[in-house]
Amino acid sequence: MGSWTWDEMNLLAIRRLHYHGIHETYDPLRGWDPQSEYERYLYGKFQQIPVSDIALVITQLIQGGQVTKKGPFWTLTKQGAALAYGLCEYDIQKLSGLWQEIFKLAKPRPRPRRVLDIGCGGGLTGLILSQNGFLGPEASYYGIDCDAAALEAGRMLISRNPGATSAISLSEGNALGLPFPDHTFDFVLSKGVFCYLPMRKAVQEAFRVLMPQGYLVVIVPTMQYMLHKAVAALKSFQPRPVIRYSTAVLLGLASFFGIRNPRQSRFFVGETIRGVQKQIEGIPNLKTLFLQRLSVPFLSRPIALIAQKAMG
Ligand SMILES: C[S@@+](CC[C@H](N)C(=O)[O-])C[C@H]1O[C@@H](n2cnc3c(N)ncnc32)[C@H](O)[C@@H]1O
Repeated sequence: MGSWTWDEMNLLAIRRLHYHGIHETYDPLRGWDPQSEYERYLYGKFQQIPVSDIALVITQLIQGGQVTKKGPFWTLTKQGAALAYGLCEYDIQKLSGLWQEIFKLAKPRPRPRRVLDIGCGGGLTGLILSQNGFLGPEASYYGIDCDAAALEAGRMLISRNPGATSAISLSEGNALGLPFPDHTFDFVLSKGVFCYLPMRKAVQEAFRVLMPQGYLVVIVPTMQYMLHKAVAALKSFQPRPVIRYSTAVLLGLASFFGIRNPRQSRFFVGETIRGVQKQIEGIPNLKTLFLQRLSVPFLSRPIALIAQKAMG
């Protein structure tokens, strides 16, 4: 097992606990999924044990009750889960090169100055965009989410991470009634969120706040990803993720064949990008530029839709 310190183990284990399904209890040192690139990456980390400022922050949070331990099993508390989610998202988005691929496709000129992230979770996407020079000078990133715990965890992680060149502002808000006037943003993104929402309203709201010539980027998980997660959960005897991901696959199939639940769902759905595209086709001033299955590792090749609002 090497010479790990308790703090270092916590830092990595909190990520891994999340990766196996929030609030699930299990032994973080058993049952690695060799098919999953992110798990292979974490496993490599477990062998190296880097020490960083974040490790210290997380250790403090663990002492503050972010993780509970019952026998050999560790469970994330709500705040711990939010924190772990933020950390994993940061890792995955950074390592996958997701935004490099999207910006290579879209090439927004000039670079975005006012960015809205709908359902931003911890808002770590803002940090990645800003740290990697995707945003224009003096750009502002606004993240909104309905989950106060996710926002709080994100604020904490962002404040500990140097290198953000843009203003990052995170606030509570609803994707279906965005708290911004019309034509506010030149770049609106939403990753892993529209698959929970009534599609028409979500797309209309994103369109409303977009400036003329502004870009809309929507990313959703794919059926392939859902299936992989369902099978991995089945193999490691975790009933809740099995139900969650199998339902997503079934709802995704129903959606593919045109059977859609018009209401907001507490389940998420595979392959809903077709639903997003359909709604975009219904808005005359919004044109899909790319509908692309991305080649990024770590994310099971999600599909990104990039659209642009017309001039007038
Ligand atoms: C799978 S997470 C994606 C988070 C982030 N975009 C990312 O890629 O890491 C889905 C997020 O959508 C948020 N969400 C769901 N419904 C929402 C709504 N109606 N308004 C705002 N946020 C919502 C959830 O709270 C959650 O943080």
